[in-house]
Amino acid sequence: MKLSLIAGATLFSLGLASGASQLPLAQYVSTLEASAMADLLQALETMQSQFFEIWQGTWPDAIDWTRAVMSTHIAAGMTSFTKSKQPDFSLEHENLVNGYFSQMTTYYFGQDAIGLRLQAYDDILWVVLGWLESIQFLNHHSDIHFAPQGNSTWYGKSFSPAFAHRARVFWELAVDGWDEVLCGGGMVWSPWLGPYKNAITNELFIAASVNMYLYFPGDDNDFPFSNTDDVPGKKHDEKFLDAAVKGINWLHKSNMTNDQGLYFDGFHIKGWRKDDNGTGKCDVPDLMVYTYNQGVILSGYRGLWSATGDLSYLTTGHELIRNVIAATGWFTGHSSEHEWAGLGRDGVLEDACDSGGYCSQDGQTFKGIFFHHLTVFCQPLPVGAQQAPFHGADRATAGLHRASCLEYAPWVQRNAEAAIGTRDEKGVFGMWWTVGLEEHDGTHKMSPAPVMGTDYRNRGLPVDSVWARSKGDMNNRFAAGHSNSITHDPNERGRGRTVESHSGGVAVLRAHYEFSKL
Ligand SMILES: *[C@@H]1O[C@H](CO)[C@@H](O)[C@H](O)[C@H]1NC(C)=O
Ligand SMILES: *[C@@H]1O[C@H](CO)[C@@H](O)[C@H](O)[C@H]1NC(C)=O
Ligand SMILES: *[C@@H]1O[C@H](CO)[C@@H](O)[C@H](O)[C@H]1NC(C)=O
Repeated sequence: MKLSLIAGATLFSLGLASGASQLPLAQYVSTLEASAMADLLQALETMQSQFFEIWQGTWPDAIDWTRAVMSTHIAAGMTSFTKSKQPDFSLEHENLVNGYFSQMTTYYFGQDAIGLRLQAYDDILWVVLGWLESIQFLNHHSDIHFAPQGNSTWYGKSFSPAFAHRARVFWELAVDGWDEVLCGGGMVWSPWLGPYKNAITNELFIAASVNMYLYFPGDDNDFPFSNTDDVPGKKHDEKFLDAAVKGINWLHKSNMTNDQGLYFDGFHIKGWRKDDNGTGKCDVPDLMVYTYNQGVILSGYRGLWSATGDLSYLTTGHELIRNVIAATGWFTGHSSEHEWAGLGRDGVLEDACDSGGYCSQDGQTFKGIFFHHLTVFCQPLPVGAQQAPFHGADRATAGLHRASCLEYAPWVQRNAEAAIGTRDEKGVFGMWWTVGLEEHDGTHKMSPAPVMGTDYRNRGLPVDSVWARSKGDMNNRFAAGHSNSITHDPNERGRGRTVESHSGGVAVLRAHYEFSKL
């Protein structure tokens, strides 16, 4: 069907020849793979040694939702690591995995699971994605290194029911955000504001729901609902898939994309007031474009393909990825002009706040989220029949998917190199990746990117009738951390380097590693 869209696209040179001409291809690829893994491990080590506190079971300087994202990056990084050590696995490797796993478990207890329940639906859904990622890691590590040697399981799997319970409770809380009255469907962002139907909450709902369908192992713990008729969660329950399909159908109909084919932030409803639903339609777009809004949906597409075998989810995902890459100036040869292309420049991803140095903790987390979900999407498709409810691909489809993802690999590598250029002497990544490249040719392009719409994620929510916001509740994440003056190091401006800016480096290095193996 629409697969020609993937096949017909331009193939990019992988650039393997330069600097590696003495090595046979296979050897070069494995060297690249090994060095990419070493870079990833170093970035993870820096993240945890600089920013995680075991005694508190958390990243104290982060905020609730960004912590859930940090835990996702740790689990995903460990999945990459444990798979990379197949079949040879030493006590030293096991020690490393257990070190991160013990941090994961302390974070389970360090997570503010009570406070998070009262937050917006997107905050709630990051929690679901985080614990489902941890469950997948447990299964991989146990299956790869313990199950083959007999019938043993890795002790870490004993935490699976706890993680599963947390994921289920939070998914059920999120379902309340689905509203059929306004805009004919869709998730609202926050129960505490006027009904803003935005990309991130809907993408998260789709991705979390389909991942619940695929990876949630069931849950017979009825706390805290033991006084009600609520049934404990079933594995592969169709209700999760139905929610994801309902979500994607609504999102596709909502027209939440701009003329570059990128998701813009969301819709308000014209004339909405507390006692009046106005037009009841999603008719006031907020055209702000963020990187993470192009990312989370990729996990949704990949999961929906796995759950249904419907190829259109893959082709739509590839289209979006191409639009993102184009919006960094990669296809148009802007690479020496430092010209803003919609979502970056010089072939490097940027959020609008990056060059101005005014990113909040939210904004500093976005690019890493994009790369995490891009990596999920580009995992090789399993060929042939799979165990239900997973679908497999035929060889041709798997080959096209791989070929398409290989086309993105040089772009991923460019972004990884750019991010590496922002590390300080402690190895902590900055948020504005492009500047690392520009330093190499002696110029700084500090002009702020053109912005349309309301950059509420970085500048704070306006107190106005459109947002129906009355009081300040989110100030912490907007406070400037460092000097606002322009220094020799633009990544020291604003909040400076944080666990959030660092997490972007972790995720792009993991993407680079996974793409190097395709
Ligand atoms: C291992 O598992 C298999 C299949 O579940 C079972 O038939 C076998 O008895 C088990 N072996 C041991 C030693 O428990
Ligand atoms: C989306 O755009 C199409 C074509 O412009 C229009 O027909 C449709 O009503 C729009 N949908 C919504 C939900 O606004
Ligand atoms: C306004 O929309 C909400 C759903 O967001 C619905 O519960 C309520 O009944 C609607 N009010 C009116 C007057 O239609």
